[in-house]
Amino acid sequence: MRISTVLLVAIFGVATSAAAHAQDKNKGKADFSPQELKAKVDYCKTCHGLSGQGFRGSYPMPRLAGQQPEYLVNQLDAFIERRRNNPVMFNVAHVLNPQMEKALADQFKDLDPKPLGGAPRDNVAEGKKIYQEGIPKSDIPPCASCHGDDAKGRDAFPRLAGQLHDYIYRKLTNWDKERGQDKAKPDSSAIMQPIAHSLNDAQIKAVAAYLSYLE
Ligand code: HEC
Ligand code: HEC
Repeated sequence: MRISTVLLVAIFGVATSAAAHAQDKNKGKADFSPQELKAKVDYCKTCHGLSGQGFRGSYPMPRLAGQQPEYLVNQLDAFIERRRNNPVMFNVAHVLNPQMEKALADQFKDLDPKPLGGAPRDNVAEGKKIYQEGIPKSDIPPCASCHGDDAKGRDAFPRLAGQLHDYIYRKLTNWDKERGQDKAKPDSSAIMQPIAHSLNDAQIKAVAAYLSYLE
């Protein structure tokens, strides 16, 4: 647990400076109506599913339902600042102001649809073991130590419960090409980098399958 304590201190520093930054940007008053917020949420749902449960199109659109608001806002900012690389979400996010980001995050937090499912079930038990115990011989800490026993996340640590298995697979196999892309602005993605790297393909599939069925 010593390693993750160091990492937690690191993320706490990141989260605090992000919060200070958000406060700075937040000085203006909310400048949208409830109707505008609803229209925006409906727009997000065209890709992320009517209950925020995620959707499989030509690629997997992640579940947003029940996501931690702090994590969700961090990711929107990461897309805008191109710390996280995704052209679709850059286009969606760069028009949002901080109050709208926060309001959107609060809307998705309260949704609780059933997981979309669809993963093979034969490696779910192996995935559960990895999630709860980590892989000591590869220096991989228990996922639960950061993402929570129930995988619901906390603050800047994302919820993983019910997330699409194919989305999780793509993120963990592509971490270095998508996250932490601005070397001058290291962010909370650095905490996951060594973990994503150390997991092999079969381990990623197993843990992704396990998580995708959690409610
Ligand atoms: C045109 C489709 C589309 C629309 C509309 C859209 N998204 Fe996305 N969103 C995506 C895709 C695709 C990804 C996955 C990006 C990736 O693979 O990294 C994503 C990822 C995200 C993520 C990161 C999730 C995670 O678990 O890290 C957040 C947060 C997000 N979207 C929020 C929103 C919000 C809020 C809206 C509405 C304002 C919205 N999206 C509208 C397609 C869309
Ligand atoms: C030391 C803390 C820590 C541990 C242990 C940890 N994670 Fe993470 N994880 C994070 C943080 C922080 C993020 C958010 C990264 C960001 O802000 O870009 C994250 C993000 C993720 C994401 C991306 C979620 C999304 O919606 O895009 C996945 C998938 C993930 N972790 C899976 C795992 C798995 C599987 C394990 C165990 C093998 C694990 N994590 C262990 C801290 C941790």
